[in-house]
Amino acid sequence: MTVSTCVSIASTHAKSNGRVLIVGALGFIGHFIAEASLSLGRPTYVLLRPGSAFNNNPAKAAILRALQDKGAIVVNGVINEKESMEKVLKEHEIEIVISAVGGPNILDQLILLEAIKSVGTVKRFLPSEFGHDVDRAEPVEPGLTMYEEKRKVRRMVEESGVPYTNICCNSIASWPYYDNTHPSEVIPPLDKFQIYGDGTVKGIYINIIQSLLTTCSILSILIITLLLIYTQFDDIIF
Ligand SMILES: NC(=O)c1ccc[n+]([C@@H]2O[C@H](COP(=O)([O-])OP(=O)(O)OC[C@H]3O[C@@H](n4cnc5c(N)ncnc54)[C@H](OP(=O)(O)O)[C@@H]3O)[C@@H](O)[C@H]2O)c1
Repeated sequence: MTVSTCVSIASTHAKSNGRVLIVGALGFIGHFIAEASLSLGRPTYVLLRPGSAFNNNPAKAAILRALQDKGAIVVNGVINEKESMEKVLKEHEIEIVISAVGGPNILDQLILLEAIKSVGTVKRFLPSEFGHDVDRAEPVEPGLTMYEEKRKVRRMVEESGVPYTNICCNSIASWPYYDNTHPSEVIPPLDKFQIYGDGTVKGIYINIIQSLLTTCSILSILIITLLLIYTQFDDIIF
């Protein structure tokens, strides 16, 4: 377990406004986290980037409406613009930042981290992990690149002194093994088929919506996320 600075629970609660900023709240993992935060009654801010995919995506637009109906407050910004993120964090007095950016944007979090460090008021940062413990896993490409990027973010977060929690829930969703992108958004491979490792490793592929087991795993993420909002764990691996 990696150790981050811990703030005592009692002192945190005494002064806490509980404001949570969720990055990637319209994404697959992020929208579950946003719903969980709202259902806890937390002041929940969702970061929307200008020109966000939700403009042309009815499914994402519906997620946004549902979150707003439950009380989510929309703020505009992109995490790879330090000054605008500092402004967002300061203006809204954000105390907890939960990032659920997807595979292609993992390194964008380094700028977000700079902004968090510079404002100095964020009490806990949860970087976009929500997968394997990247320091223990030994993936092959095409997964390796993203793991290396997540490792880099971990090292920078550790060095930053910002209190953090990494949630590692192993494989629970549909697409970590399809070039780290959503299979619904790409056509099936026609001329090239990726075989992982030497092709002998067995895997189980299940539909997240229809599978009670997978749904329970997602719920576990939510429960753990809620737990850590109130407590000060460092790494959570399940
Ligand atoms: N364990 C598993 O089985 C599993 C499965 C899937 C994902 N994951 C992990 O969960 C995490 C989230 O993945 P995901 O698939 O849920 O991601 P996703 O659906 O692609 O969503 C990413 C979200 O981040 C937003 N975003 C990206 N770059 C941004 C930036 N620079 N500034 C502000 N917002 C930005 C996107 O905004 P737009 O809406 O504007 O595009 C989108 O809402 C990743 O770490 C991934 O590895 C784990």
